[in-house]
Amino acid sequence: MKKIVINGPCRLDGQVEISGGKNAIVAILPATVMVCGKCVIENVPRISDVENILKILKYMGAGIRNIDEKTLEIDCTDIKNCEIPYDLARRLRASYYFLGALLGRWRDTTVAMPGGCSIGLRPIDQHIKGFESLGAKVDFERGNVHAKCSSLVGNHVYFDVVSVGATINTMIAAATAEGLTVMENVAKEPHIVDVANFLNSMGADISGAGTDVIKVRGVSRLCGGTYAVIPDQIEAGTFMVAAAATRGDVTIKNVIPKHLECISRKLSEMNVKIIEFDDYIRVIGSGVIESASIKTMPYPGFPTDMHPQMAVLMSLADGTSRVTENIWESRFKYVDELRKLGAKITVTGNVATIEGGVQFLGAPIRSCDLRAGAAMIIAGLVASGTTVIEDIEHIERGYENIIEKFRGLGANIRKIDVPENR
Ligand code: EPZ
Repeated sequence: MKKIVINGPCRLDGQVEISGGKNAIVAILPATVMVCGKCVIENVPRISDVENILKILKYMGAGIRNIDEKTLEIDCTDIKNCEIPYDLARRLRASYYFLGALLGRWRDTTVAMPGGCSIGLRPIDQHIKGFESLGAKVDFERGNVHAKCSSLVGNHVYFDVVSVGATINTMIAAATAEGLTVMENVAKEPHIVDVANFLNSMGADISGAGTDVIKVRGVSRLCGGTYAVIPDQIEAGTFMVAAAATRGDVTIKNVIPKHLECISRKLSEMNVKIIEFDDYIRVIGSGVIESASIKTMPYPGFPTDMHPQMAVLMSLADGTSRVTENIWESRFKYVDELRKLGAKITVTGNVATIEGGVQFLGAPIRSCDLRAGAAMIIAGLVASGTTVIEDIEHIERGYENIIEKFRGLGANIRKIDVPENR
């Protein structure tokens, strides 16, 4: 079993380069199924979610070529329309994007229900609303989702819930529907815009991504092209919080400061110094960390995917802080693990109250999900003594070379492989 071992405390110092966006690439790769031609995709993060999606594309017969370590060429011209089996689909949440892509390509698809982080129920009723609005019939059978229609026709859809996945899935399917699709009450995350820009670079006609209304004018076919994935704003935010928590001085390169605005503003409120440049930011965590209150909301609100990481920083602040989690009902699993390091957090309903002034002490802990795992690393960097983190496969799903990146900033961190029976 692989574990992460950290000896703290440490102060992070130096430069780190942010990889391509996980939540963008896990939608863009399935969307290549819509394209008859070669898609060259740049700035691809080599994370296990990407590797698992490539396994699905290979299973379907796609041509996949590594042009270099960050650039892939995908050719789905000759793929077969086949059922995506459970053992491939269950490895990540984003396998559901194959529903929209295969519906858009063949008007008929079967995909096993997705997997992903255990942070809540994670329904897909809004995805189904989007597909049905385009004329598809969707049913569930033996753990599979089956969507089929004789033709996809553009329509007006108003989502009941702001959903990243449903927005992207419907946009993908609508790209080759007949006529105009107008989508309202949509998600506005940077990765929504990135997927729209990718589809447009392949010949789609999508406007309004990043606003409350997205319009998709269906086209008959998508051709090949080249596209570079945006930087991962949550990875960047994770390193910003790590720099602040360790009282470090870190320059975070390859970012889009606009995408980090909510995180930067909140850290500035907490007396963390943030200096913004065109495509990099410098974070200096010296002096007293002020307490704060956060309410997680859809973009441009405070991102839920930064909640666990902020809880670590708030444990070090002067005073009591609060996090209200409005997106996922089970995102508090990290609290029990942080308590093992000394955190003083109480959870009532969807509100965590976090006492400051904690002196973390190293201990054995586990990574409950992707972002909780990142938070455990930050806590281990701050804790006195040795912290050993188990279940690190969650972390490797979404953070490229995270050990090497933290080591490059001066952390005493390594990955070990321990025999299962010990
Ligand atoms: C995406 O999940 C991200 N995952 C999540 O990041 C992120 O937390 C989430 O968006 C919110 O930003 C990927 O992009 C692969 P949603 P998604 O649909 O699309 C409810 C990470 O750490 N909802 O925006 O599954 C849902 O229950 C991961 O990178 C419905 O009710 O999230 C939730 O309360 C964790 N019906 C809210 O909407 C639906 O059909 C937002 O979910 C869909 C969602």
